Amino acid sequence: MPFESRYPSGRYEEFADGFKGTGVLLIPGSVTYRPTGLAVGPDGSLYIFEDNEGRVWKVEYTGELNANTSYVGSPIPRRKISGNASVFESFEYDQKGSELYNLYCIACHQVDGRGVSNMQPSLQESEHLKNDEDYTIRLIIQGSELIENRQYNNIMPNLSFLSDQEISAVINYSKTCFASSASSVTRDKVAAARVSLSK
Ligand code: HEC
Repeated sequence: MPFESRYPSGRYEEFADGFKGTGVLLIPGSVTYRPTGLAVGPDGSLYIFEDNEGRVWKVEYTGELNANTSYVGSPIPRRKISGNASVFESFEYDQKGSELYNLYCIACHQVDGRGVSNMQPSLQESEHLKNDEDYTIRLIIQGSELIENRQYNNIMPNLSFLSDQEISAVINYSKTCFASSASSVTRDKVAAARVSLSK
């Protein structure tokens, strides 16, 4: 963005691109990389990090319009969730969860999770999705049958045909992607809910 004294003086110019590893981004989870960190070196170079493969790009100012962008190293280890054997690596979760969301949820809750007013709720504003994993697990297994005072014209289908692992993956994906909350649903929790509902 060009500046004149302290104020923007024109349209932004793209000086480096390609950080998400895909073309047009339709669905938040479909990225290959996510730029996550920025640092400025003593010479004014910009370092850009991404979180899937642990790459670092260095952007140097050369005085030309097309800055020189080079790949300099791999200092960031892949993220891992530890402490529970039934939780697999978060990266796989994200991939699987996003595929499942696109197959089974997107038609109603939409690409951005916002739903359609009166038809189906927004997952972005869902307190249930954010804070009540038991409710959310039961809802996926039972569908609208779970709810007494229904407010939407559409029906949340019973998705109990999904495996425990798939249910945990799609809920965790929806939580992280739409409700800004951490993955917390394990296969075991889904299995326990299924037993208690005998579905
Ligand atoms: C056919 C449309 C439809 C599909 C497909 C669908 N939902 Fe829903 N969903 C709804 C409706 C309608 C509600 C509101 C339920 C009610 O009031 O009966 C709802 C409610 C929810 C809620 C609770 C929101 C709240 O705050 O109470 C969550 C979470 C949710 N859905 C997640 C999902 C996920 C994840 C999937 C895919 C695995 C999915 N839904 C698939 C229509 C759908």
